[in-house]
Amino acid sequence: MFEPKPADKFSFGLWTVGWQARDPFGDPTRSPLDPVEAVHRLAELGAWGITFHDDDLIPFGSDESQRAAAIERFKQALAETGLVVPMATTNTFSHPVFKDGAFTSTDRDIRRFALRKIMRNLDLAAELGASTYVFWGGREGAETDAAKDMRDALARYAEGIDLLCQYVIDKGYGLRFAIEPKPNEPRGDILLPTIGHALAFISTLEHADMVGINPEVGHEQMAGMNMVAGVAQALWMDKLFHIDLNGQHGPKFDQDLVFGHGDVKSAFFLVDLLESAGYDGPRHFDYKPYRTDGSEDVWVSAAANMRTYLILKERARAFRADPDVQEALEASNSNRLGEPTLAPGEDWSDLHSDPAAYEAFDVEEAGARAKHFSRLDQLAIEHLLGAR
Ligand code: GCO
Ligand code: MN
Ligand code: MN
Repeated sequence: MFEPKPADKFSFGLWTVGWQARDPFGDPTRSPLDPVEAVHRLAELGAWGITFHDDDLIPFGSDESQRAAAIERFKQALAETGLVVPMATTNTFSHPVFKDGAFTSTDRDIRRFALRKIMRNLDLAAELGASTYVFWGGREGAETDAAKDMRDALARYAEGIDLLCQYVIDKGYGLRFAIEPKPNEPRGDILLPTIGHALAFISTLEHADMVGINPEVGHEQMAGMNMVAGVAQALWMDKLFHIDLNGQHGPKFDQDLVFGHGDVKSAFFLVDLLESAGYDGPRHFDYKPYRTDGSEDVWVSAAANMRTYLILKERARAFRADPDVQEALEASNSNRLGEPTLAPGEDWSDLHSDPAAYEAFDVEEAGARAKHFSRLDQLAIEHLLGAR
């Protein structure tokens, strides 16, 4: 039980297990990890996929032959293990050239360079069979409102995504885009800070149908948002193209903890939602092994993400199957919220002339009904804690 298998669709970023633990105050505490070793170790642990930024695989500034060699070794490791590349992304934040953003830098030549860098990695993503391409705009933002007119910045952001959609269409690549929101860090303020901002932005795009989101647990929680509710909205809009699972303790720096190691109750309801909604995309972990830990501990924490997900999946299943839970859902009418407010064939005029809806409606009785949500909540906690 709780043994991860490729069918569970667990994937990891190369930058997660490969994080050398350099932070703003300290030097690396671990040595570099060879991408080939990452592929083998993740496959041994039961993972299904591996994802990367261009620069994780091919160090920035590599020449053509170094690039070809890095790609070849990686492909060979994939072939040996059966690991797949479901998603890829671009590093448009580390090099100083991107200090003021990529799509939204105030320098036009930097924006053009960024688009070329992304196109180049889109070619590789397609070659490796990826189906999703993530855009995390870490440097698309500012520290001061004096820096730029955000209306212009959003227009440049949309122009860039529109152009890249057209590139993917014209090249015949089977890729969809997923925008990853984050409120701040590394910039003081980042554009598209929450799921809601990203969804609204996507609706303005030329190829809105091929752009969805890649929400990250910790990023929503840094902004004080409810990840479960945000993901539900994305699912409702058919926009959950990918997901970054990790842990966070409320609004503070981006902790990127192991999944479930932050707000575990929210993690429980997130797994419950993903599984009951039939989400069939990757369960992608975007976490950082503790800086205090050694190279072997990295694999302990990688395994912990998958095991925690599977435990929560089992707890959520038991919660839904519990007759007491069914009864509590019945008592609150929660299981009838799916029923439309108008009857089939009714329109506003039928509602308008229905005395039962208004004139004869016993508003006092309706106002006195209790929902008993505290009982439902405790049932969830007991299942989560393994007490039922
Ligand atoms: C973060 C982000 C990044 C992105 C990744 C993909 O922790 O701020 O999650 O890790 O997901 O860079 O571009
Ligand atoms: Mn993060
Ligand atoms: Mn992420």
